[in-house]
Amino acid sequence: MAAQLEPLPGTSDLWEQELVDWVSLETCARETFSKYGYGELRTPVLERTKVFTRSLGDETDVVQKEMYTFEDRGGRSLTLRPEGTAGVIRAIANRGLATGEERRVFYMGPMFRGEKPAAGRKRQFHQIGVESVGKVSPWLDVECIAMLMRFLAELGIPNGRLLLNTRGLPEDRERVTAKLLEHFEPRLGELCADCQRRIQTNIWRILDCKEPGCQPATETAPRITDLLGPESQAFFETVCRGLEDLGIEFELSPRLVRGLDYYLHTVFEVVHEGLGAQDALAGGGRYAIAVPGSKNPIEGVGFAAGIERLLLARESLGVKAQSAAEADVYVISLGEAVLSSGLALAETLREAGLRVFAETTGRSLKAQMRAANRLGTRWALIRGDTEMAAGTVLCKNMTTSEQTGVPVGDVVPWITRPTCE
Ligand code: HAM
Repeated sequence: MAAQLEPLPGTSDLWEQELVDWVSLETCARETFSKYGYGELRTPVLERTKVFTRSLGDETDVVQKEMYTFEDRGGRSLTLRPEGTAGVIRAIANRGLATGEERRVFYMGPMFRGEKPAAGRKRQFHQIGVESVGKVSPWLDVECIAMLMRFLAELGIPNGRLLLNTRGLPEDRERVTAKLLEHFEPRLGELCADCQRRIQTNIWRILDCKEPGCQPATETAPRITDLLGPESQAFFETVCRGLEDLGIEFELSPRLVRGLDYYLHTVFEVVHEGLGAQDALAGGGRYAIAVPGSKNPIEGVGFAAGIERLLLARESLGVKAQSAAEADVYVISLGEAVLSSGLALAETLREAGLRVFAETTGRSLKAQMRAANRLGTRWALIRGDTEMAAGTVLCKNMTTSEQTGVPVGDVVPWITRPTCE
């Protein structure tokens, strides 16, 4: 029976205290991204399946194995979004984007991938992401990465390792693919089953396969950066120089290709040692995504960070959001007759900006004090028949245990006076 009440594997219920940390991440994202001119966009969780298949690539693991796809009652194929970029591009294309115009958006929310659940790997996970769409410049890539690093530092995670690589331009692809084939074909027997399939379907992905058995073959593979044409080389050199000029440390990671096919030019990931096996905190890069009805693909640069992983990284560093008490004040009412004026007092306190929990059953003083303690309130405001008759409130400071009788009209200034903050 209990198993039927548990959330599905790879999904979680999120309770108040966890959400305090969660909301602090979201607030930090909003503050940081708005400093760079990004505004929020919320796209639907459910989209036509094509939105993802045409953007992410038919041969990616996400499309092949992980999407939650189903037919609705009207026979349409729909998918729960496995990532945010494809839907953002659909939304921007739907609004229309003039040539050379730039849109900067950020988003946050649930994403769904049917992966094997593990620490830091969920089936419903949550991303905070950004996309700068419409303009092509290596300096935009530099600024986007700088924003990610600032965001992580603001969150109290200054020690993520930034890994950087390039996938070059589409016109480089044939040359790189031919060289990779030359390298991997004679080593087919050394590769895992997935990579044996990838040799035909998506040979670049073999480069960042994590299977230990594939490592000898991938470690000796030719480097993409050595095979690119001059335009791609120059773009990447500018990105590297721009990051150096801003004092942002990075490691060249020649085998980083990323799991989605829409990338070209810059690709990057930030990994963190506090995360264990699923060590990618955030990933992104420059991409081009074809949209129906448009001759040219839409180009952009962006990244997404997993909220669950950001929280794990913060936990590993001992960083916590200030744990806010659930209420500042507990209004204790002793007996039925006092309840109504207890609620009125609570309203006055809320008008003054305080978070108030008011008693509604009139149970014993001991039970109400226990509730106030549980909520971590700073004040218990106690009233029974005696206080009602005298027009006072007994204000108990929960930290010092001092109690003072205060006229009811003076309670707000009394408990908010500076020495009590
Ligand atoms: P991604 O690398 O697939 O990229 O995901 C970005 C981040 O989402 C990962 O670094 C990780 O923190 C988190 N993540 C991914 N899968 C899971 C999972 N199953 N459980 C928990 N966290 C997960 C993208 O999604 C691209 N759309 C990023 C992007 C934006 N590229 C350009 N713009």
